[in-house]
Amino acid sequence: MQPWNTFAEGDNLDVVPLLAPAYGPFDVVYLDPPYNTGNPFAYQDKVAGRRADRHRAWAAMIRPRLEVVRDATSERGAVFASIDDHEAARLRLLMDEVFGEENFVAQIVVNLNPKGRQLGWGFATSHEYLLVYARALPTCVLEASITSKVDPGDFPLVAEDGRRYRRLPLRNTNKKFNPVTAPTMHFAIYGSPETGWVTTAPFPGALEIKPVFGDGAPAVWRWSAAKIDAQPEDLVCRWVGRGDRRRADVFQRDWLHAGRRKKLRTIWLAEEVGSTDTAVVELKALVGHLFESPKPTGLLRRILETMPDDARVLDPFAGSGTTGHAVALQNAADGGRRTCLSVNSPEPVRTGSNADLAGHTRVSDVTRARLSAVADVVGGGFDEFILDC
Ligand SMILES: C[S@@+](CC[C@H](N)C(=O)[O-])C[C@H]1O[C@@H](n2cnc3c(N)ncnc32)[C@H](O)[C@@H]1O
Repeated sequence: MQPWNTFAEGDNLDVVPLLAPAYGPFDVVYLDPPYNTGNPFAYQDKVAGRRADRHRAWAAMIRPRLEVVRDATSERGAVFASIDDHEAARLRLLMDEVFGEENFVAQIVVNLNPKGRQLGWGFATSHEYLLVYARALPTCVLEASITSKVDPGDFPLVAEDGRRYRRLPLRNTNKKFNPVTAPTMHFAIYGSPETGWVTTAPFPGALEIKPVFGDGAPAVWRWSAAKIDAQPEDLVCRWVGRGDRRRADVFQRDWLHAGRRKKLRTIWLAEEVGSTDTAVVELKALVGHLFESPKPTGLLRRILETMPDDARVLDPFAGSGTTGHAVALQNAADGGRRTCLSVNSPEPVRTGSNADLAGHTRVSDVTRARLSAVADVVGGGFDEFILDC
């Protein structure tokens, strides 16, 4: 059995195609490439040509890597790419080309720096982006919803059998759907606000109820007549409005059940997924502050939650190994069988950086150190694939 975490040192352009037959195809690929933030000199440079060169060089670096990643991704898989404003627009266009515009899923705003960048001119930028593409949208298994976000407080009512639920109008509240656009969904149903009972056939004491919008205009139901008769216990008839405006209406009893999922919005807050600051704290607790801007494991765990719990995961720009850490934490939390291949080049650490001062010579030493510590602390094992050069 494969360990939860495997590491391979090398340039992802070579390593991903080499290891994909054994470790792939990958269902989840997380890309966190260098952001091309440039150096202060490059920013002061007003020569447009130089800036364009920098973007061209970045695009030339990332394009072939997107292609090898695409070829290593499974038909059910999805690719998630973190990026900031420097290259977000270019990366989106490149991913449109490489994965196909039709496979675009979302551009999520991730609030990784809630205080906002205080240095320099302009706005205190507090977010970056997560671009999401399916390898092939029709066969992609991504579910843009998760169980951990479901708040029992959103289900305030309790049924006779103790189950929690909330009431949703059975009427379709979207004005696009009305008796003209959906004539088969406009029909009378019968209900008793006294007993709550609802059917499509009249019964003693029942009131005839037709769907109407708040302004009284005719509306349509969300459920067909057949579904209403098949699930009467999931519906309830009750009085709404007061005085002259009192009328009977029908509601769905929307149950809180085990495994219930909540749709994810396209803005992910630091309080939900963590921030760069909390990521540093996580890294520090495990191996020390050996990497400048790690991602929080919460961000990766949320990504993992949208995909099956036996996903094969690939991180070709592993850095401090956050993805591998998140895979182990998520497996430990939900009993999943995910495996993760992390790749990082033997790039030298910056002179004077914490990693340098701690005696590490390459970034890959940091990746290795963290994934090995993850195996000790969280479990799941750790293996290294040594490439013959
Ligand atoms: C932005 S960091 C990733 C940070 C990571 N997500 C984390 O949470 O720690 C990008 C990483 O990609 C690595 N890298 C850059 N080019 C690479 C390449 N061609 N192949 C493999 N790794 C590369 C760098 O050494 C760096 O560690």
